[in-house]
Amino acid sequence: MERKQVLVSPEELEKQKHYINILKQRVSDLNLKYHIITYGCQMNVHDSEKLAGMLYEAGYQETDNEHEADLILFNTCCVRENAELRVYGNVGALKSRKQANPNMIIGVCGCMMQQKEVADYIASRFPFVDLIFGTHNLHRFPQLLLQAIDSNNTVVEVLDEQGSIVEHVPTKRAEGVSAWTTIMYGCNNFCSYCIVPYVRGRERSRRPEDILDEIRELGQKGYKEITLLGQNVNSYGKDTGNDYLFHDLLRDIDKLPGIERIRFMTSHPKDLSTGLIEAMADCDKVCEHLHLPIQAGSNRILKAMNRKYTREDYLRLVDRVRTAIPDIALTTDIIVGFPGETEKDFLDTLDIVKQVGYDSAFTFIYSPRTGTPAARLQDQTDSEVKKERLARLIELQNRISKDKNLKLLNSVTEILVEGPSKNNSEMLTGRTRTNKIVNFTGSKDLIGELVQVRIREAKSWSLEGEVVTQDE
Ligand code: SAH
Ligand code: SF4
Ligand code: F3S
Repeated sequence: MERKQVLVSPEELEKQKHYINILKQRVSDLNLKYHIITYGCQMNVHDSEKLAGMLYEAGYQETDNEHEADLILFNTCCVRENAELRVYGNVGALKSRKQANPNMIIGVCGCMMQQKEVADYIASRFPFVDLIFGTHNLHRFPQLLLQAIDSNNTVVEVLDEQGSIVEHVPTKRAEGVSAWTTIMYGCNNFCSYCIVPYVRGRERSRRPEDILDEIRELGQKGYKEITLLGQNVNSYGKDTGNDYLFHDLLRDIDKLPGIERIRFMTSHPKDLSTGLIEAMADCDKVCEHLHLPIQAGSNRILKAMNRKYTREDYLRLVDRVRTAIPDIALTTDIIVGFPGETEKDFLDTLDIVKQVGYDSAFTFIYSPRTGTPAARLQDQTDSEVKKERLARLIELQNRISKDKNLKLLNSVTEILVEGPSKNNSEMLTGRTRTNKIVNFTGSKDLIGELVQVRIREAKSWSLEGEVVTQDE
């Protein structure tokens, strides 16, 4: 399908720059602070880096302490109900603070707001919210913020369009060794349970030259690892009508200086082409890790989910990937309790988990999402049964993860050192090329470096190791 890419115009971006400057004049000397609370996937995390970038340019400073923030922004997710419930609870909790400090600005944005009834509900249930906007107009945040500051009413702008592509939005990336780059927006797949296509619009691939320029610059700034983001990265390029596809992009990024490791997520099994498997095997910087959501192991359920592959197709793919890249780590997403899932269907899921032997898995209980086809199906599965199935699945996966990790004992592997370990500040933490977390003792000078580590202890979720010195 040929679709013209819709780039946000340079004039619109200039306009937003102008609003950033006005904000800057207002904010300077006031020492205002912002706090962004992000829910959901890496795309949202990266969107929050853009929101932070615009605020930073406007003179706001970041604070980790919500209580000293002059501006609190919730970047929301609606993929499951519990993500939404947390947003309602946390926004509601700000009512008394807003009463005590009417100058404080509260904004709610992101995927949840793309559902009209939800945006309306937030506006009416929490009238103290100053600003509501969606995913398609994130770049218009400076203008909307200024309006919200000047208005006594809630400013609401949610665009009901398929979405466009926006380049050159100021971005304040997390400091460190890794950076995110969104290579495409939206999703065309309409899995029957999923709300994402309704809130993120149709697939739009960024131009290769824009992506390559951005990553080249990130390499110059010292980032060592790039994660390419998209709901379905391996359909990159298919919306453009050109024949430049995801594997072409990977091969071009692999040639860029500075960057040592390339990761990407998420890939849909239906778009895992031979060209992509070959590029992954050929490109030195592309890490030996593939996140390939299976969602369910029963063909009946896969069909009802509109996933467009069978368990046999999936297992064949895994074989092909492992033949081309023998040490690759495979991870996945799995939903339990899809409407009509029987014990037999669930056993098919456990069976495929065992057959593939994933390194790790994100597991979810099915959550009905209004507006999706699956939400209209009768859901016969009792919630206790779903919880019990989830527990069995997690128990199986933990055992497999631990067995996989035990196989690494005493091996020496390359780690990109990210920083101090979260649980033990005496230790450093980093990741293997296969995306496994390794904690180890070492000098802080190693942060940002690639080091060789010998694995000494294996757990389900992480490894411990020690740096291998030159003379070993
Ligand atoms: N585009 C990605 C990720 C989408 S959201 C992909 O296709 O894999 C991340 C995960 O959330 C999905 O893979 C799925 O496992 C889960 N998910 C999506 N909708 C859900 C729902 N309604 N209930 C439970 N889990 C869901
Ligand atoms: Fe949702 Fe499916 Fe698209 Fe992933 S591929 S975002 S699960 S519709
Ligand atoms: Fe959630 Fe939106 Fe991501 S719904 S999973 S934040 S694309």
